[in-house]
Amino acid sequence: MAFKVGLLGLGTVGTGTAQILLDPAQRHPLVQELEIYRVGVRSPDKTRLVAFSPGVVTTDLEAIVTDPAVEIVVELLGGLEPARSLILKAIANGKHVVTANKAVIARFGEEIFAAATEAGVYVLLEAAVGGGIPVIEPLKQSLCANRIHTLMGIVNGTTNYILTRMQTEGGDFAEILADAQKLGYAEADPTTDVDGFDAADKIAILASLAFGGRIKLPEVYCEGIRQVSAADIAYADKLGFVIKLLAVAKRDTSPGTNLADPPDQLQVRVHPTLIPKTHPLASVNQVYNAILVEGEPIGQVMFFGPGAGAGPTASAVVSDILNIAAILKVGRGAATDGQPPQLDPLLACSHQHYCAIAPMSELVTRFYARFLTQDSSGVIGKLGTCFGNHSVSLESVVQIGLRDNQAEIVVVTHHVREGNFHQALDEIRTFEAVNSVASLLRVL
Ligand code: HSE
Repeated sequence: MAFKVGLLGLGTVGTGTAQILLDPAQRHPLVQELEIYRVGVRSPDKTRLVAFSPGVVTTDLEAIVTDPAVEIVVELLGGLEPARSLILKAIANGKHVVTANKAVIARFGEEIFAAATEAGVYVLLEAAVGGGIPVIEPLKQSLCANRIHTLMGIVNGTTNYILTRMQTEGGDFAEILADAQKLGYAEADPTTDVDGFDAADKIAILASLAFGGRIKLPEVYCEGIRQVSAADIAYADKLGFVIKLLAVAKRDTSPGTNLADPPDQLQVRVHPTLIPKTHPLASVNQVYNAILVEGEPIGQVMFFGPGAGAGPTASAVVSDILNIAAILKVGRGAATDGQPPQLDPLLACSHQHYCAIAPMSELVTRFYARFLTQDSSGVIGKLGTCFGNHSVSLESVVQIGLRDNQAEIVVVTHHVREGNFHQALDEIRTFEAVNSVASLLRVL
């Protein structure tokens, strides 16, 4: 007997998912046992790329999540509501859930996973991070023997596309964004992507899996790419770096740290970052995503691939559906004696506590800063002295030319405490010879 799937949403990813399920040849044999039993859409009259038998498509999404015949609900609506309510209703009705909805999981994970645990159902979300890149299940299963200490990645394709074009064409953010919107690489309202919120949702989810605790989304530091200029990209290039929107989740690994102890505090942050050209993430370009995981004893492992798109994201969605179908097939998902079924601890969410997140002022990192100053004697000396007074050691200072009749001075620091660096900057801003701090970026 086929496993009955209720699909919510028939947009790009929903269509890609249906296409895989309706064309099972040469895929895993279990794909043949999945039946698209109901498809919920908001606009019934839209032209679709896939055709379904009469009666399958409905606008009554609630009827799908409450239908006793449906075993697996696949939520591909996007947005917070009605997605969240439908997921919760599906769980309350004993359905397993597959979702690509990073925004809902990052905000309402506690509510959703608590309900799922109580109901004895799975909520799987491979497609929520990295599109087609397998990273959620590898973190849960293949890497679970490791003590993970660092996870960092390029998890937003839109910003990576814009930054790659700024790098190769030398254009400014606004003009490349406008072109990316015209070409369909960026949304008409690009905020979620370019201001870093999409990447913040994704790193919160990844951090939660890597470090075995929940993450409060408002505690994730989030800075987007609007302030990255062509000038910064050109300076970074000369200094041996590329600029990427990096999402980072990291625990303290300073000497004396015992990785067997629970982390005191995690850093979880998203910001544009200068990455050395020799770093594995530096060559991840265009809309591609990559996630680098570091742990003991594995060392480094990097996941690379297409971070969005119908086919890749549907590949991840169908892998989750198959994971659930495989469990149901061997009878492990069934309730016994009125008790909810035991969940596979490697597939289900097993943590309840929240991770403590360190304030950004305690971050120890390198910085890149660009100053526009008067072209007079002693300015570089004054900057150097001020940084020195705040324990900020400089790695390089460059003054190549003038911009709008102002001297342009670029500094890269050694590792410094972020709080100290900002104190130095506050003082520098008061210098008469300093017209502005034109940009400020972190360096990996
Ligand atoms: N908007 C996302 C991106 C794709 O640009 O990567 C879906 O997660």
